[in-house]
Amino acid sequence: SRTVRRDADGVVTVGGLDVKTLAEEFGTPAYFLDEEDFRARCRAWREAFGTGADVYYAGKAFLSRAVVRWLTEEGLNLDVCSGGELVTALDAGMPAERIALHGNNKSTEEITRAVEAGVGRIVLDSFQEIARVAHIAQRLGRRQQVQIRVTVGVEAHTHEFIATAHEDQKFGIALAGGQAAEAVRRALTLDGLELTGIHSHIGSQIFDMAGFEVSARRVVQLLTEVRDEHGVELPEIDLGGGLGIAYTSDDDPREPHEIAKALGEIVTKECEAAGLSVPRISVEPGRAIVGPTAFTLYEVGTVKELEGLRTYVSVDGGMSDNIRTALYDAEYTVALVSRTSDAEPMLSRVVGKHCESGDIIVRDAFLPSDVAPGDLLAVPATGAYCRSMASNYNHALRPPVVAVAEGSGRVIVRRETEEDLLRLDVG
Ligand code: LLP
Repeated sequence: SRTVRRDADGVVTVGGLDVKTLAEEFGTPAYFLDEEDFRARCRAWREAFGTGADVYYAGKAFLSRAVVRWLTEEGLNLDVCSGGELVTALDAGMPAERIALHGNNKSTEEITRAVEAGVGRIVLDSFQEIARVAHIAQRLGRRQQVQIRVTVGVEAHTHEFIATAHEDQKFGIALAGGQAAEAVRRALTLDGLELTGIHSHIGSQIFDMAGFEVSARRVVQLLTEVRDEHGVELPEIDLGGGLGIAYTSDDDPREPHEIAKALGEIVTKECEAAGLSVPRISVEPGRAIVGPTAFTLYEVGTVKELEGLRTYVSVDGGMSDNIRTALYDAEYTVALVSRTSDAEPMLSRVVGKHCESGDIIVRDAFLPSDVAPGDLLAVPATGAYCRSMASNYNHALRPPVVAVAEGSGRVIVRRETEEDLLRLDVG
């Protein structure tokens, strides 16, 4: 977050509010999201891509009504991948034509709801779905704009991209073997569908543009084949999300303007070579927008020193509010934020309160050796895929999300209560 400072006593402030006050007012664990930072990142993406392109925020990273309103105001579009995300977007007033619906197994209800609402785009993920969406749209007397999601044969993760094993996964329709070309053929013949473009998403937490370039080249190649076979120039391509953020100082993220420039150049070059008019580009960043804007604040409960190994620092949350370390071996940093300390750094592991030893939030960290119960710890860069993947494991109450702006905090997703838990338990 861009507004984080440490005052003379070592107490960290965000958006002008100190963490001790935040902890008192909102409790711990809690996610604190810097609204100005979120909006600034939206604007940076919008400005980088300009009016000739669209930025769809990927709602799976974190979605709430407030987020939808910020996106709407900042001129972004929204990618939703479930009925739940769709209903949140519509409820908070995102115009339907700015919404794209994703998913490899959208239900009939989800599709019907999206078509009825008039979403701007449904991204088709299988042959069955091409038929299903066409059928539903036709029944509703609509012609639904759709893209076809293809798998381009690139699977990009972090620093490298691998051109094998990519087709062995559940998303999209393979370019290889003429599958995608066949999908286009079918979509073009169906009355309920207006095929507007091709979609490709190659992975997540990517720093290297090379994977995107291969993806763009292969998508343009398909557009060329479509033009040659059908005499139709599809007007859009979507190159997905997946742009990486800095979780640790080893990570070196690309800025939106670098990404826009690289993608714009490669698409333009390939289209010129093929004699195609340049399609409208869209992208779907989730993590790169919301990830850096929030941190999780925890209170230390117990400290256990294992002689010759490390010290386990247990906090009042855990894998129920951040599953990413347990699930992906994700790396985070952590800081003591409620005071300064001159004590020696000690090798620490920040763990939660859940009933399993894999309940780790930060695997290796150096915390001051005097860290003690009552201290507040902050884990930065938890805006993406933390609250949205939170669970009730051990009947944990999912933490609130507090938007911090202009010197005050406002709950945008409230803390779960025991009543919330018991309300669902109707046996
Ligand atoms: N578009 C599509 C079609 C996607 O599947 C995804 C992410 C995105 C956009 C946004 O990707 P982003 O820019 O946020 O990386 N739970 C995992 C990440 C799963 C991402 C799934 N799809 C994690 O915590 O790292």
